[in-house]
Amino acid sequence: DLADLQGLKQGTLRLGVVTTAKYFIPHLLGDFCERYPQIEIDFKVGNRQQVIDRLSEGRDDLYVFSHPPEDAPLTLHPFLDNPLVAIAADTHPWAKRKSISLAEFATEPFLIREKGSGTRYALERFLKKQRLKLNVRMTVESNEAIRHSVMSGLGVSILSQHTLAFGGDAGLAILPVEGLPISSRWSMAHHKGKPLTPVADTFLRWAEQRTLSYPIEYGGEGS
Ligand code: PGA
Repeated sequence: DLADLQGLKQGTLRLGVVTTAKYFIPHLLGDFCERYPQIEIDFKVGNRQQVIDRLSEGRDDLYVFSHPPEDAPLTLHPFLDNPLVAIAADTHPWAKRKSISLAEFATEPFLIREKGSGTRYALERFLKKQRLKLNVRMTVESNEAIRHSVMSGLGVSILSQHTLAFGGDAGLAILPVEGLPISSRWSMAHHKGKPLTPVADTFLRWAEQRTLSYPIEYGGEGS
């Protein structure tokens, strides 16, 4: 439209994203804000439960989940894979192994995200299916603190591969554990009943287009 062509699109874009998406969405915002300099961004990050709470209070225009709530009337736009991978310190003897069975992996001290985390939710569903229990050593409320604790040799964990992008894999190795990664996929979500603001709609289309050409394997191993 004309406003778009003239670069006049303005307003605030309110985004509420789960913590695994905070490594990725900002990389979309750089170009977006260059293209639409009049748009102001309000970027909120929380764990899955916190973002669900924001959603039920109607606080933001668009949400990013990998495990959207099942009981909410949402329109979902899946846009990118979010694989959950097993990690250990790169000095861990398993870092050199060709493969590790799930049963063996489960004996190692494990660092788990807090209740309310979508990463934990996906992990618990996976463990239930596999009839497996982990040897939990520590509950940690942050992906970064888990990465650093794993680096320091406190134990192993399972995190979104996106947490390892752009240098986040320093000091860490992705372990070839059988049955992993746990696959999930991010979706942009918004209330079914509530029309998107023009700014949110513009961002949604922008994100969908950009991620079409995005190499999924950015970050993680070998980068
Ligand atoms: P989280 O991230 O573990 O911080 O809740 C959510 C997700 O990727 O589902």
